Amino acid sequence: MHPNAVLRYRPIQEREACKYLLRVAEDPKNFLHHGRHFLGATIIRVSYGIDVDKHKDTDYLGIAEAALAIFSQAFLPGKYLVESFPILRYLPSFMPGADFKREAAKWYPVVREMRDLPWEAATTALREGNATPSMASGLLERMSHLDEKAAAEQEEYSKNAIASAYAGGADTTLSTLQTFYIAMASFPEVQKRAQAELDAVVGPHRLPTFADKHDLPYIAAIIKECFRWRPVVPLGIVHSSLEEDEYNGYRIPARSAVVSNPWAYVRDPNLYEDPEAFRPERFLKDGKLDHNVQDPAAIVFGYGRRICPGRHFAEGSIYAVVSGILHTMSIEAPLDEHTQPIRLADHVKMTHGVLSYPEPFDCIIKPRSPEAEMLIRTSLSEDVTTL
Ligand code: HEM
Repeated sequence: MHPNAVLRYRPIQEREACKYLLRVAEDPKNFLHHGRHFLGATIIRVSYGIDVDKHKDTDYLGIAEAALAIFSQAFLPGKYLVESFPILRYLPSFMPGADFKREAAKWYPVVREMRDLPWEAATTALREGNATPSMASGLLERMSHLDEKAAAEQEEYSKNAIASAYAGGADTTLSTLQTFYIAMASFPEVQKRAQAELDAVVGPHRLPTFADKHDLPYIAAIIKECFRWRPVVPLGIVHSSLEEDEYNGYRIPARSAVVSNPWAYVRDPNLYEDPEAFRPERFLKDGKLDHNVQDPAAIVFGYGRRICPGRHFAEGSIYAVVSGILHTMSIEAPLDEHTQPIRLADHVKMTHGVLSYPEPFDCIIKPRSPEAEMLIRTSLSEDVTTL
């Protein structure tokens, strides 16, 4: 998605973020679950025009979650021998070493349901004239001018491309959102400074919007630091060289697996002084974003032709919730058995895998004031009160 293309999704992100704030205010203990719902619901809304809170007859989020659980297993590099020895793909599925074939057969219907069900709902809505504009409705409208064969081919591509948005976008963004909570609970001084900025720029009578983004450099710096501090895809996604190449005197044969190391780049002390520290200030100079500091977004979203197409959308989702939560809620560390705060930054480990998430943790989240809680409720207009 082009930076300008994501602008049209901002009202959806703002609205879903508002629903998220209400859920967190009403049920703060389940803030991670609400984060998952927010991100999934936003992507399904943008992709298919489906409001999952209104179409409760089909569990679109549950279906997508089931498929996602499969992707996270299937994409573990080195999990299957066939990755190193492609010849194994010719093994019959009952043979030892062909476990990838047996598992793929089991997974196929789950992934297919995720791909096809919301697409069919979007197709029906368009046919019946009640479609909400979405990526699917745009593609379907364009396909309506094609002949039958070309349309069928295009439909196959479109379905796959849109389904990959959920697969690529939900858990990745959730991981960064979790990192945000860990950082805020661990570094209250950062939280206070962010809230002071929001109070000065936005004030007590409304929620922050995308229109405020430019005037909230400290919020932008927190988001950059969250991306940098705990990169979601620490070893990137494996690329393959199409032709023989050379890098700094190293020969890279054609068809080599090329693994980058974003985890090391974001910890390079030449780029980021004291890299283990969570310090949003590193991105600021004279109260403004310092564009001389390497933007972690240029590292953590991959590179080249396969760079993450959802990066601007992800940044928008994170901005919408981070600014809203900081404006209305306070985030505190959980307490240990001696009622002492647990410093989450030191205690919560990141999982190992293609995608890295903080292990489960708690936070104490409370409205900053009764007025802040009231603000969340009044900011939601009537048609979103059916959570
Ligand atoms: C914090 C959030 C996110 C992070 C850290 C992230 C990171 C990445 C990375 C590292 C890649 C691999 C790039 C490469 O091969 O070099 C990728 C690919 C991808 N991402 Fe994201 N992503 C995020 C959010 C999203 C969102 C919100 C969407 C969609 C709405 C999305 C959709 C995709 C897709 C479809 C691909 C595959 C692109 C391809 O293979 O051509 N991502 N992402």
